[in-house]
Amino acid sequence: MITSPSAADPPSSVPGMVVRAIRSDDGSALQAFHYRLSPDPIRSRFFGAHPDLPDAEARRFTSPLAGHEVALVALFGSEIVGVARYIRIGTGDGAEVAFVVEDRYQGHGIGTELFTLLARIGWNDGIRRFIADTLAENHTMLDVFRRTPHAVTVTEARRDGGVMHLTMSVTPPGADLTWFGDDN
Ligand SMILES: CC(C)(COP(=O)(O)OP(=O)(O)OC[C@H]1O[C@@H](n2cnc3c(N)ncnc32)[C@H](O)[C@@H]1OP(=O)(O)O)[C@@H](O)C(=O)NCCC(=O)NCCS
Repeated sequence: MITSPSAADPPSSVPGMVVRAIRSDDGSALQAFHYRLSPDPIRSRFFGAHPDLPDAEARRFTSPLAGHEVALVALFGSEIVGVARYIRIGTGDGAEVAFVVEDRYQGHGIGTELFTLLARIGWNDGIRRFIADTLAENHTMLDVFRRTPHAVTVTEARRDGGVMHLTMSVTPPGADLTWFGDDN
């Protein structure tokens, strides 16, 4: 059973922001969030144009399959400003991760916070590896992955044309990171 963030979770380090599991009644807020995104983050997230988020897709994104998928939203008030998700690969201990933070909120630590929380939830859910496909030019995303030793260690980075395929081992909670000196 996946544990979702709740009031018992530590407060966000970004003042005023709340992070919680996505809910089935988040569809409209998710669509509003999608329509506020500029083409750049949409392209980075979906690897192409994705101008619309139809009702069926919003329903799908707000109804993660229990035991298979976890999705978090970052909110200011009722407005979604970021979404992070992992989807378990088969029945194994790996999962694919994806993120998007609204343009005007980028660079404030929201992506890092969502990713860190996702890694903690994943660990508790038996996830030991994250994989991510990221545009090779997407240095911000690559840096978030590489600079979060408390969440993951990048174990493989393979370039295939314009796409980087990353494999990361999920860091156990409370792991001693004093040995960690390689941020590549
Ligand atoms: C990639 C993405 C999710 C990162 O989210 P973010 O909220 O901007 O990430 P962070 O703010 O945690 O980190 C981004 C940068 O801000 C810096 N930063 C973090 N907190 C900060 C703060 N309080 N003040 C100033 N800078 C800060 C980080 O050090 C990082 O710098 P770097 O790029 O030099 O490494 C976001 O840019 C995005 O949505 N991009 C489009 C979609 C996408 O690329 N998805 C990935 C495909 S899966």
